[in-house]
Parts: sequence; C-alpha cells; structure tokens
Amino acid sequence: MTKVMRSLVVLASVVLLAGAVGFAQSAGEATYKAKCQNCHGPTGLADSGIGKAMKVKPVTDPEVKKFTMAAMIEATKNGTGKMQPYKNTLTEAQIKDVVAYFHSLIK
Ligand code: HEC
Repeated sequence: MTKVMRSLVVLASVVLLAGAVGFAQSAGEATYKAKCQNCHGPTGLADSGIGKAMKVKPVTDPEVKKFTMAAMIEATKNGTGKMQPYKNTLTEAQIKDVVAYFHSLIK
C-alpha cells in the first residue's frame, strides 16, 4: 500500500466513525423529542401537561436517580407503571440510544 493510499484509508475511517457517533447521539435525542418528551418533559423534569397529569417523576427525583442504564432500558422495553412498553415500536438500538439520552438528563 502506498503512503497516500494508507492515509486515505485512515481518513475515510475517521470520517465514518465520526459520522456514526454523531448520528447515534442525535438519533437518541430525536427519538426522545418524538416519543418521550410529551410525558417526561424536554429536560426530563416531567413539567409538560401530560407529564403533570400522569404524575411522571422528574429526573431530579431520588427514585429516578436510582435507575441504572440497564433498569431504564428494561422499563422502556417492557413499560413501567402507566407507561406503555416500547419493545414493539422501537428497535433495540433506538431504545439504547434514547435511554442513553434520557439517562444523560439526570443531574
Ligand atoms: C404517556 C406518557 C409517557 C411517555 C410518552 C413516556 N413515558 Fe416513560 N414513564 C411514564 C410514566 C407514567 C412512568 C412511571 C414512573 C414515574 O412515575 O416516573 C414512566 C417511567 C419511565 C422510566 C422509569 C424511570 C422513571 O423516570 O420513573 C423510564 C426509564 C422511562 N419512563 C423512559 C421513557 C422513554 C425512553 C420514553 C420514550 C421512548 C418514555 N419513557 C415515554 C410516562 C411516559
């Protein structure tokens, strides 16, 4: 492999990787805004109309802070309390992305 070709390959993989990471983050955020924010609020505070009506706990609640990523994925997949399960409407990857975003809202 020539030097030029090798740097081209390296450059291409860097661009691909950066693209994949950027996409994963915005995908989780986009899914959250489309499917979750109505109840959990734009910043996870459940301060929206439906969130208040359903008494969704804000991410500042100690009960929510106790949730691990795995427990959140579980709750999103199979539903919890009055929340419907999402395993039939979202893919495994979408659930992981959206939960990563939701989890990042916990301060
Ligand atoms: C129709 C309203 C509604 C929507 C939409 C909704 N949730 Fe929930 N969610 C709830 C309710 C109610 C609970 C019950 C627990 C509580 O009081 O917070 C809950 C609980 C959870 C929990 C357990 C931790 C916690 O906050 O109590 C997670 C994690 C969660 N939701 C993630 C999601 C994700 C991710 C989405 C979008 C894919 C979503 N929710 C969409 C209403 C909703």
